[in-house]
Amino acid sequence: MEASTLSRIGLAGLAVMGQNLALNIAEKGFPISVYNRSTSKVDDTLQRAQDEGHLPLTGHYNPKDFILSIKKPRSVIILVKAGAPVDQTIQTLSGYMEPGDTIIDGGNEWYENTERRILEANSKGLLYLGMGVSGGEEGARNGPSLMPGGSYQAYDNIKDIVSKVAAQVEDGPCVTYIGEGGSGNFVKMVHNGIEYGDMQLISEAYDVLKNVGGLSNAELAEIFDEWNRGELESFLIEITADIFKVKDEHGDGELVDKILDKTGMKGTGKWTVQQAAELSVAAPTIAASLDCRYLSGLKDEREAASKVLEAAGLKEEVGTVRSGIDKKRLIDDVRQALYASKICSYAQGMNLLRAKSVEKNWNLNFGELARIWKGGCIIRAVFLDRIKVAYQRNPDLASLVVDPDFAKEMVQRQAAWRRVVGLAISAGISTPGMCASLAYFDTYRRARLPAESCPSSKGFVWGSYL
Ligand SMILES: *[C@@H]1O[C@H](CO)[C@@H](O)[C@H](O)[C@H]1NC(C)=O
Repeated sequence: MEASTLSRIGLAGLAVMGQNLALNIAEKGFPISVYNRSTSKVDDTLQRAQDEGHLPLTGHYNPKDFILSIKKPRSVIILVKAGAPVDQTIQTLSGYMEPGDTIIDGGNEWYENTERRILEANSKGLLYLGMGVSGGEEGARNGPSLMPGGSYQAYDNIKDIVSKVAAQVEDGPCVTYIGEGGSGNFVKMVHNGIEYGDMQLISEAYDVLKNVGGLSNAELAEIFDEWNRGELESFLIEITADIFKVKDEHGDGELVDKILDKTGMKGTGKWTVQQAAELSVAAPTIAASLDCRYLSGLKDEREAASKVLEAAGLKEEVGTVRSGIDKKRLIDDVRQALYASKICSYAQGMNLLRAKSVEKNWNLNFGELARIWKGGCIIRAVFLDRIKVAYQRNPDLASLVVDPDFAKEMVQRQAAWRRVVGLAISAGISTPGMCASLAYFDTYRRARLPAESCPSSKGFVWGSYL
């Protein structure tokens, strides 16, 4: 093939994420070769490239043709299921690749797998990147947040592409070189953990407003819309407002009340909590969000439990609490509780990243991480700009909670926060995320703790009296 007809980059693995990312790259003017073992996926992608504006995309039906169709030094993105399929794909493709070429894994991979593959690739003279991609199918097509880690040379080879393909915000594209080794995957993992925390806190705010405040779906939609115009402005608040407006096609009322209250989970949230324990970093809000998912999975057990406890005489306290409620004030309090809880959750995620960065010598730039999360990804939010500024002001910030601006906000909101948690507890509405964040704050801010009086293995020890 003539050099001029060669593609600038390749992408293997054409499930929805892969297809969308390939089309995004082509649309930005970078000719791309695509490949998938099953030929129908290749055909689907070619068809979409035609339909979506005759994009410069070529399909290949065998791995050799695919690799040889890419300009040297070659960069090949793979988007297949994490784990063994990544190893198989690398095995298939690397046989045709040459020293100086790069493999870029765009999946939600465990960071140690990436570190193993970096060594394997290097032994063949190949470069390697583990690149977190956030934003789902929509983001992949129109601008994701990208977190590439591994070989800097490999990043430099595709910098022009990823800078155009990523979501664009006022202070640049949502991509930066994260660091060496598996840092890109690790940062994406913690991003997902933070996302779990955000979703948990939002669902608690909803629960309190609905069940303690007695708000209707129409009122909830209006409140979340209003919140999305202020300090809480974010993708997750926006889609929450939209959920309350979706009518049930198959009956009366809104869909939100018919959705089964049972959620699943992916590996990344669990890994985040495991890593926090591993590194002795407190991440109680993220852990609470996971625990809540475990419990929500026990739908049948919970139904049985509610009957047993009712028969044993348990009375709902919600009604009594609700009767004396000032709705307007509750709404304002919940907004403040949500915001303060969120700051604590991000503080936990950032401190987990710091601990890992120290352990692995990754030299992570927290201001940059907050910046590339401002657009494209699921946790995109206006307040990430403030986190960026906080870390720019002080890269060694011990915790977001003690940044002067955030500290002021925490203090202003703590009365409202305590009222919400207190009300929820008296009403019997569980708010594990808000409670975990508040306990985190109350523990962290105290210069002196009762830890000295904890029972120790050497017997019951009363601190300084020993
Ligand atoms: C191709 O598509 C199939 C599903 O149709 C998938 O299982 C496989 O991993 C894909 N990727 C590659 C590189 O062949």
